[in-house]
Amino acid sequence: MHQPQLIIFDTTLRDGEQSPGASMTREEKVRIGRQLERLRVDVIEAGFPAASPGDFEAVRAVAAVIKDSTVCGLARAQENDIRRAGEAIAPAVSGRIHTFIATSPIHMQKKLRMAPEQVLEAAVKAVTLARSLTDDVEFSCEDAVRSEPDFLCRIIEAAIRAGARTINIPDTVGYAIPFQYGALIASLLQRIPNADQAIFSVHCHNDLGLAVSNSLAAVLAGARQIECTINGLGERAGNAALEEIVMTLRTRRDVFQLDTRIDTTQIVPASRLVSTITGFPVQPNKAVVGANAFAHESGIHQDGVLKHRETYEIMRAQDVGWNANKLVLGKHSGRSAFKARLSELGIELDSELSLNAAFQRFKELADKKHEIFDEDLHALVSEELLEPQSEHYTLVAFMAHCETGESPTARLVIAVAGQEQVTQSHGSGPVDATFKAIEKIACSGAELQLFSVNNITSGTESQGEVTVRLARSGRIVNGLGADTDIVVASAKAYLNALNKLDARTERVSPQL
Ligand code: KIV
Ligand code: ZN
Repeated sequence: MHQPQLIIFDTTLRDGEQSPGASMTREEKVRIGRQLERLRVDVIEAGFPAASPGDFEAVRAVAAVIKDSTVCGLARAQENDIRRAGEAIAPAVSGRIHTFIATSPIHMQKKLRMAPEQVLEAAVKAVTLARSLTDDVEFSCEDAVRSEPDFLCRIIEAAIRAGARTINIPDTVGYAIPFQYGALIASLLQRIPNADQAIFSVHCHNDLGLAVSNSLAAVLAGARQIECTINGLGERAGNAALEEIVMTLRTRRDVFQLDTRIDTTQIVPASRLVSTITGFPVQPNKAVVGANAFAHESGIHQDGVLKHRETYEIMRAQDVGWNANKLVLGKHSGRSAFKARLSELGIELDSELSLNAAFQRFKELADKKHEIFDEDLHALVSEELLEPQSEHYTLVAFMAHCETGESPTARLVIAVAGQEQVTQSHGSGPVDATFKAIEKIACSGAELQLFSVNNITSGTESQGEVTVRLARSGRIVNGLGADTDIVVASAKAYLNALNKLDARTERVSPQL
């Protein structure tokens, strides 16, 4: 029997992007946007158009290609933000403006320096203006959980009267406890006279590890939209994880009695893509999408699962897209098979030139590694899609020498704005020597905050995927590199991070 629907609003491209180092290029947002559409999320919040010209272009590009999900742009309750959001979502088949203002005493007094009546007036003005640009307007009371319930009732009632169709009650600072948050939603629904004219939504941060529990408690109390992100990415400790929400609703349909539109087999591909693009690895024991989520270690568990899977498994790995890691291409695959597989993965390269370059990389990889999996293709295309203006540094050639009793050395040829330069250094290991050699040319002054290596698929033949996080003057970037040689992958990741640091664009954070 068909059950009532819960709206899944994905904010990976907006709140997720607010994680330090997770900022994405327009092409990266389009790629993730296409995967979110394949996952069948209802709403894709593509960014905060007033934050920077780059973010505006990214939201507009996502709005232009997505046909089967609503594309949303975030805006503070300010005229310029709302007009920018309206322009950015204009190409969408279905577009939404999401406007917000803080409603808690601490935010109103200390951050906005506005009296509650001024905040209420700004909210009504913002919603009214947004409604003149699109029919689909969402209004959020930032820091709702720490707001006075009476004031929340007044501002929400006014926002609905001004035309907001969705009312979002964020737990901006991750302070809520499930039973209290559920009670807040229930009381708002009961007390606000026109509550039946809007969908109530929740948006929970994970500072106490309760984002998913709080969101689900709110659903039991009557909320009908959940805002969440792939892998729980987001400000600070992140947002509620989409994969956990969706699989809880599905596995415990007996409790929630709500359906979503989500194609769950696209969950693991979405998780991998977001992890690859942002450089945020997924912890092995992460629910649903962690490498160990379906791995049974103890003999008793293994024995039980072999006899009857449901003794220890409440979900099937293939239902969330595991085992999709099938062999797709090999050394003898041709250009059309390569192009067809990219297109099945939702990857469109915008010119024949990019396709040829990516195919060339594929052939080089297939020479080193016999079996090419979907994950390899994603990594390969990530490298190909780096924006040309950010390619200040490119790796041309690499040589490292390690020998017992000798100090490791690395020698690199790097193209700097097209001019080849040779550099070399010693180090405590080959990666250290490589980074020191690069720094001799770049003199970036950046601090290395993270260096992590993961294998993209399994086995020693797999490509290593390296993430390098660099910080300079308060700006944090993640660089990525993939190669069958992890020292080469490290060099690529370091150069990628330097390119991102150089391609600096000023951004305004919505929370400021
Ligand atoms: O956490 C928050 O309050 C937000 C709003 C902008 C919805 O991200
Ligand atoms: Zn948020």
